[in-house]
Amino acid sequence: MKAERTINLQDITALEERCQLATYKKMPIVAERGEGVWIYASDGERYLDLYGGHAVAGTGHCHPHVVKAIKDQTDKLLFYSNLVFSEARARAAHKLVSIGPPALTKAFFCNSGTEANENAMRMARLTTGRENVITFAGGFHGRTADAISATFLGKYREIGKPNVPGHLKAEFGNIDSVRALADGSVAAIMLEPIQSMAGVRTAPPGFYRHLRELCDEQGIILIYDEVQTGIGRTGEWFFAGSKAGAEVVPDIITLAKSLGSGIPVGACLVTEQISAQIKENDLGTTFGGGMIAMAAVTATLEAIENDGLLANVRTVESYLRERLREVEQVVALHGKGFLLGLEFAEQARPVHERLLRQRVITGTSSATNVLRLLPPLCLTEAEVDLFIESLTTALNHD
Ligand SMILES: Cc1ncc(COP(=O)(O)O)c(C=O)c1O
Repeated sequence: MKAERTINLQDITALEERCQLATYKKMPIVAERGEGVWIYASDGERYLDLYGGHAVAGTGHCHPHVVKAIKDQTDKLLFYSNLVFSEARARAAHKLVSIGPPALTKAFFCNSGTEANENAMRMARLTTGRENVITFAGGFHGRTADAISATFLGKYREIGKPNVPGHLKAEFGNIDSVRALADGSVAAIMLEPIQSMAGVRTAPPGFYRHLRELCDEQGIILIYDEVQTGIGRTGEWFFAGSKAGAEVVPDIITLAKSLGSGIPVGACLVTEQISAQIKENDLGTTFGGGMIAMAAVTATLEAIENDGLLANVRTVESYLRERLREVEQVVALHGKGFLLGLEFAEQARPVHERLLRQRVITGTSSATNVLRLLPPLCLTEAEVDLFIESLTTALNHD
């Protein structure tokens, strides 16, 4: 039987606006349930979700294998911290390490992307005894003090003031700009290997190879922030080790977003050499490694394997690229897999809004003419056809 609504739709919106602090500019949708790439709103409409709630819904909304694993875990134990061992945590750590590059042998669990990046930078500082961190113009790394200070994009460092000292800015894709900064004071170089928020910017494979060489020469820790690119989004488990990245493997990969299919969880994957230097109480978090999150991680990775979602991303990406060639207003297509930026000659926000009116959810970026797609990895060719139809209508408006 359908549950009776106790509060009407206008009241939900009004109540949230009255009682919640402003965060993002909200879409006029009251999300009620989700299935695969679809979000069902309380007014009965359904939306094709090509954004996944900030790239979180990698396995699609409410993947049955993930939902079951979470439900089963809730019957056993909601939470106990890292003071005890746990089968759920052991399985998640083993599974995550087993899909990662072989050189990264240990996982550290936390609760979000910003926290994963803070801990990665801390590990680099602790193990090198140095303080400076090089990051890149256009990179986004989170909103806590150290991560926002590492974010040379738009207003973020400004709203994060006072900034943590020791953050140096290089130009993405320009190895000379990194060389000019990389001396014996630098603990880490950290980058989004594909800069998502900046408008889905990529670099040539040689850039990653040169970064690796530079880090090896100077004893610098290389950190890939794969909060967006990780867990299958590019059609590989990670950008690290991929052909597009010259098969370069960093010393630390940071993860969050789709890692738990919507249950908050972040992680760092770390080399044996670094983990050997981390001592008890150097790192810690109450909730990191909690049982519900760990059950969600294992089930997420299993669902991606069981459903062949990495291969699906590669196949459907090719189809989407082919179909987008028919859309003349798309002047360039950036990115890889299901992290794509559609560049227009015009502004992207009005396109995003017209798509929304046709019940298609997409994302904008800080490049105002780039529309971002971060769909669930289970997107099909038939759903791509629906998107192309809506996009064509949205672009050919009067
Ligand atoms: C590349 C990247 N790193 C870090 C973060 C921060 O993650 P969180 O919002 O989970 O703290 C984000 C969030 O958008 C991100 O896109």
